[in-house]
Amino acid sequence: MGRKKIGILTGGGDAPGLNAVIYTLIRACRSMKLDYDIIGYKFGYRGLYNNDFIPLTVENTSGILHKGGTILKSSNKDNLFKFPVEVNGVKEYKDESDIAIENMKKEGVEVLVVLGGDGTLTSARDFARKRNEHNEPEIKVIGIPKTIDNDLRSTDTTFGFDTAVNIVVENLGRLHTTAESHQRVIVVEVMGRNAGWIALHSGIAGSADVILIPEIPYSLDKIIQKVEQRNAIGKNFTIVVVTEGAAEKGGKESVAMIVADSPEAKRLGGVARKIAEDLAKANIENEVRHCVLGHIQRGGEPSPVDRLLSVRYGEAAAQLIKDQNFGNMVCLRNGEMSYVSLEKVIGAGEISETKTVSPNHELIRVARSLGISFAEAD
Ligand code: F6P
Repeated sequence: MGRKKIGILTGGGDAPGLNAVIYTLIRACRSMKLDYDIIGYKFGYRGLYNNDFIPLTVENTSGILHKGGTILKSSNKDNLFKFPVEVNGVKEYKDESDIAIENMKKEGVEVLVVLGGDGTLTSARDFARKRNEHNEPEIKVIGIPKTIDNDLRSTDTTFGFDTAVNIVVENLGRLHTTAESHQRVIVVEVMGRNAGWIALHSGIAGSADVILIPEIPYSLDKIIQKVEQRNAIGKNFTIVVVTEGAAEKGGKESVAMIVADSPEAKRLGGVARKIAEDLAKANIENEVRHCVLGHIQRGGEPSPVDRLLSVRYGEAAAQLIKDQNFGNMVCLRNGEMSYVSLEKVIGAGEISETKTVSPNHELIRVARSLGISFAEAD
């Protein structure tokens, strides 16, 4: 079997910076002279179930630091604690986590490093809880937080977020020029699920006129009011940035689709179209268009800020392995690398509480003082 091993997997939606973490972890383990070989499981937890992995070395990971996506591929399904299996032609959900443990034992994997958001890290916590007959951990787990949504509570920020904000800001610039040429209202839908961080940061940096976030239910009348105010001063175009999870006061979030077997099955989407249609029906002076930036926000190379954060997370994870300090997730606290127990990250429940934007957040105040409207319902 050779040396003991570290297994790495990337789960959930990808985020720019995943490869930079993998790249760094491998190199940091080598420079710290940790006595492990490293393997990467493919397609997240599915790789653990199928024992599908590749060796990861300094040589075969050369040149990936700046690359987007994940060389290990990802899956946003495959929760092994609630795994869909067919029994007599009927789909049932079973705890198949022991298969993963057996596979890891077979390969000599002693440490599992999990890169993911709340769904993926919930399973990481559940693996960290598993005990053998001597009440020892079956597997030593370390979590690394990732999501473009920036909605994980236990860390100041996650990699992928800064890149997404950069992409949105760049596109807001493009939409501004065409909106101005045609005197249109353009409603731009951004990701973030039920957290308005991407819309808030990019809306301010990209000079949006209206920012709509899930944390502040909007009023259509207030959007119209802002459009009319702008028209009245000769600014006959308006840019509205809306988080996919935003909803009108008293209304419901727009659901685009349901992805069966995903820890978070609901996929949000459609709110920009809805607002554009509602504005058109209200017969405002301007033509209205909408634009959904979608997965463009997750694709491509990480920004320098995200590259730096990712390499710091990678090195911090290697440090935890060196210190044999398991059951933790690396995190950023007041600008410093730190760590927090996976139990604390996720809590006792099935899925962690997310970090949303407080209506009293400083950036909400800043945006208001810039004249940006949140179209807040009375
Ligand atoms: O959590 C990251 C994220 O990109 C969300 O912002 C978005 O709602 C969701 O994932 C999209 O998921 P999928 O890639 O399954 O469409």
